[in-house]
Amino acid sequence: MNVLVFDDNEKLNEAGANIIVSLVQTNPRAVLGLATGGTPVGIYEQVVRMYKQGLVSFRNATSYNLDEYVGLPEDHPESYHTYMRRHLFDHIDLPADSAHLPNGNATDPDAECAAYDEMIERSGQIDLQLLGIGHNGHIGFNEPDTDLVRGTHVVTLAEETRKANARYFDAIDDVPKQAITMGIGSILKAKTILLVVRGADKAEIAKRALTGPITTDVPASLLQTHPRLTVLLDRAAARHLS
Ligand code: F6R
Repeated sequence: MNVLVFDDNEKLNEAGANIIVSLVQTNPRAVLGLATGGTPVGIYEQVVRMYKQGLVSFRNATSYNLDEYVGLPEDHPESYHTYMRRHLFDHIDLPADSAHLPNGNATDPDAECAAYDEMIERSGQIDLQLLGIGHNGHIGFNEPDTDLVRGTHVVTLAEETRKANARYFDAIDDVPKQAITMGIGSILKAKTILLVVRGADKAEIAKRALTGPITTDVPASLLQTHPRLTVLLDRAAARHLS
């Protein structure tokens, strides 16, 4: 595990963006696993800046997002489809048909999940999986449980997750109750993983995930088993790590 701690969030963003951009520079056909939420916004900003400087092209790359809410229209301001367009896809040359997110409005969600896994398989392994972490240790929307699921599946969001994400909606009742998420197996199959953790409110879970026992109670703790994990933390999130 390669752990890097930053005093300056801009430097963290640059480091995260450099990892993504360097990968695509050396392997223009890279398969990227992408995340949403507050955590990667600054990293995407830096990726867009580097793209606009002509340092990289995503023309031949492919992306798969971790998750999407069930039941939000694709063009809803808080859908992850909209998020990805707003923060990344509208600003780079990744072809629209190479940028994949689960369809949260599929009439047959189980078939949608199977099709998503098949598409990822057909693209080959994900070269780099970008991850944030929930306060309860979720990655993607793999919530703490006695069992974790290997492939893409429909999940009922933990109340804690809905409360955390309510900041983006008018009211908590507007936060969808379910999502489609890539499974832990798909995440761990990625060749490299880039976990990003920011803020004092994530310090406790960062410690449990990175140094605590490997347990399905903290899904992110399974990342400890990955041979090529890089973790970027700001100083506040790293304060319980020695
Ligand atoms: C987002 C995702 C989630 C978030 C996590 C942290 O695609 O899969 O696991 O990474 O909920 O969210 P933020 O970054 O908003 O704290």
